[in-house]
Amino acid sequence: SKKSDYEGLRILVTAGPTREPIDPVRYISNHSSGKMGYAVAKAALERGAFVKLVTGPVNITPPSGAEVVCVTSAIDMYNEVMKSYESFDVLVMVAAVADYRCASVSESKIKKSGDRFTVELVKNPDIAAELGKVKGDRVLVGFSAETDNLLENAALKLASKNMDMIVANDVTVEGAGFGVDTNIVKFIKRDGSSIDLPIMSKEDVAHRILDEVLSIGKG
Ligand code: PMT
Repeated sequence: SKKSDYEGLRILVTAGPTREPIDPVRYISNHSSGKMGYAVAKAALERGAFVKLVTGPVNITPPSGAEVVCVTSAIDMYNEVMKSYESFDVLVMVAAVADYRCASVSESKIKKSGDRFTVELVKNPDIAAELGKVKGDRVLVGFSAETDNLLENAALKLASKNMDMIVANDVTVEGAGFGVDTNIVKFIKRDGSSIDLPIMSKEDVAHRILDEVLSIGKG
C-alpha cells in the first residue's frame, strides 16, 4: 500500500561499509552490503520523502529518485553528512562506519617482509554521535550491530549518541544483519520502551522504522 505520509519531509540515510586505506591497494572494511540502508531510502521515497543517500562502496543499485552521494572512507562520509544534515528532518544512520582508520596511509604498496606486520589505527569521527550533539529537533535514528549483550550495548549507544531510537540487530543470528535480505531487529526508544520484531524483509523493517519515526516526530 502506497502512503504519502512522508511528503514534505527530508530524510538523510547513510548506508554500506566504509573503507579505510592501508596503502594504494589495500583497505580495512566490513561486510555491510548496503541492503538495509538502501531499503530505508527506498521506503522513504515510496512514502513521498526527499531522500539523500550517503553510501559507502556497495554492489547494489540505489533506489531511483534519491540524491545519491558515494563516499569511501569514514572521514568522507562524516564530511558529506555534516555539510548537509541541517536541511533534513530525519537522520537514519545505517552505515557500518569503521571506528578506526590507519594512522598513516602508505603512498606506495607495502612490500612483504618480516613474519609480522603491525598497522597502527586512530579513532574515526563518530557521525551519529556528532549529529546527536547538534540535531536540535531532528529525529536521529541509529543502528546497533552486536554479537553479544544486544540490548545493553544498543541502549548505551542510544544514550551516548543522543539518538531518538536505535535499531538493534544481533548479527550472529541467521536471517539477521550483514548481507542477507531479511533482518531481525529490536527498536529501543529514548523513553526506554522497546519493540521486538520477528524476522522480516529489510523493506518491511524499513517501513516499521519510518512508522516509528513519525510517531516520535509527533510525540
Ligand atoms: O548493509 P547490510 O548488509 O544490509 O547490513 C545491515 C547492517 C548490519 C550493516 C545494519 O543493520 C546495521 O546494523 N548498521 C549499523 C552497523 C554499525 O556499524 O553499528 P555500530 O554499532 O558500530 O554503530 C552504531 C551507530 O553509530 C550506527 O548507527 C552507525 O551508523 C553509527 N556510527 C558508528 C561509528 C561511526 N564512526 N559513525 C557512525 O555514525
